[in-house]
Amino acid sequence: MTDTVKENAVHRRAQFLEVLGIRTEWLPRVAIVAAEPAEDVVALADAGETAEAEPAAQRAPAQDAPVGATAEARGAGGRDGAPAVGRAPAPDIVSPLLPQRAAEIATLDWAGLEASVAGCTACGLCETRTQTVFGVGDRAAEWMLVGEAPGQNEDLQGEPFVGQAGKLLDNMLGALNLARGRNVFIANVLKCRPPENRDPAPDEVAQCEPYLRQQIALLRPKVIVVLGRFAAQSLLRTTTPIGKLRGTVHEYEGIPVVVTYHPAYLLRTLSDKARAWEDLCLAREVHDRAGAQA
Ligand code: URA
Repeated sequence: MTDTVKENAVHRRAQFLEVLGIRTEWLPRVAIVAAEPAEDVVALADAGETAEAEPAAQRAPAQDAPVGATAEARGAGGRDGAPAVGRAPAPDIVSPLLPQRAAEIATLDWAGLEASVAGCTACGLCETRTQTVFGVGDRAAEWMLVGEAPGQNEDLQGEPFVGQAGKLLDNMLGALNLARGRNVFIANVLKCRPPENRDPAPDEVAQCEPYLRQQIALLRPKVIVVLGRFAAQSLLRTTTPIGKLRGTVHEYEGIPVVVTYHPAYLLRTLSDKARAWEDLCLAREVHDRAGAQA
């Protein structure tokens, strides 16, 4: 690394620290691009969290157990606060019509995709939603952020990540010189809110997945940042805990993917903000590298 590159990196880190509210004595204990996070980091990140003390609206999904794990294994708290119920079993049976549905969705342009999502009745969530939440942002963006599913506020407002977690997310984006609607597109794995803040069920994920896939195909971002355990495990089709997914660059359809914590989780786990900051640094490096190669 040249001195200028090092200085830029230090400056960027300082910016992140300020925006994320991390004092300098909380400097991260792991290297920025750790191929495998250090044992204690993984242990900490995978220890599981409970959210009893937090206001409902600030709770986040548990960050440890895989998609499909029981509520007990995952810890308390749904996506936006209420007790999580009806945990999803391991993904298995899906509709035989799914391949045809996926093939049709794969032909849609942005307008067609948005209309298809708005009118979707492929799973039971259409009966309980207020509206679908398609995603928001620049459709030529180089950055894409992927969360889990709309919560109560998102269901009401029709936009992903509104509320306290959204504010933190916006601050994180600001630290990257990004803003909602400018060079970033934000979407969720699910386009409809699961009732009672339960985890998305496997059939819901399966029916909705072609939408996210096509959003990514149309956007072709330079980097995808996945927010939280559920989104990471769904997109990467893995059961690996988030603590182990962080720190490495993954790939989805040839696009680099960086995994970080869900902003709602970060609101109540101050110490992990430093790790989220490392993840964002990694994402920035991946993005800049892709830009240099373009
Ligand atoms: N949590 C998510 O994962 N997505 C949202 O849009 C809101 C909360």
